[in-house]
Amino acid sequence: MKILAANFKMNLTLNEINEYIDKIKDIDNKNIVLIPSNIYIPYFLNKKFSVGVQDAYYLDNGAFTGEVSAKQISSLGVNYAIIGHSERRMYFNETNDILNKKILSCESNGLKVIYCIGETKEERESNKTKEVLLKQLGEGLKGASEVIIAYEPRWAIGTNVTPTNEEIEDIISFIKSKYNYKVLYGGSTNDKNIASLNTISNVDGFLVGGASLDYDKFKKMIEIVF
Ligand code: PGA
Repeated sequence: MKILAANFKMNLTLNEINEYIDKIKDIDNKNIVLIPSNIYIPYFLNKKFSVGVQDAYYLDNGAFTGEVSAKQISSLGVNYAIIGHSERRMYFNETNDILNKKILSCESNGLKVIYCIGETKEERESNKTKEVLLKQLGEGLKGASEVIIAYEPRWAIGTNVTPTNEEIEDIISFIKSKYNYKVLYGGSTNDKNIASLNTISNVDGFLVGGASLDYDKFKKMIEIVF
């Protein structure tokens, strides 16, 4: 079955979270993964969907103010962790080596990893996409046993622009020719374009940002994908 993951990023206040939770009572599908800010995780636990975090630190515990470890996250009963989102790479300087440590820590603590990879606009325009993806995959996944990959071209995130279905299909088949993992697509997916994106033969699901914040939109996406 496909996976539909909702990355809320740094959005929603407590009132908005409560309203959202009220609307999702009917979700009964563990392949739907809701990924709020860490502070709201307890509100999402023990439901009939899966829960994820947007990042996880790789050491188990210690003097690392502000960080939350994979071990702590796992102790709550969280199922998934996004690792290597392009915003972490861009704004928090997370390198493939750091991401590799995070992936291994998640794995050893029983969290399923959604590892994000993707090229910038400049890399795409200079025909470096596959080279960049291979480096992110090779360095990030060293020693990893099983992850879910999210192909998220940076230029498609939050821009309302997506690659063509053919381009996505080509990249996913390239990734799958090297790694035997599920591959999700992410970047400007919404309730309008998901029916078409969902026809891509080799896509295993979607990582949705902005459009997941409005549950009416996300609900339509759920109905299309499942
Ligand atoms: P978007 O974000 O759907 O808002 O483009 C996707 C993501 O960053 O995972």
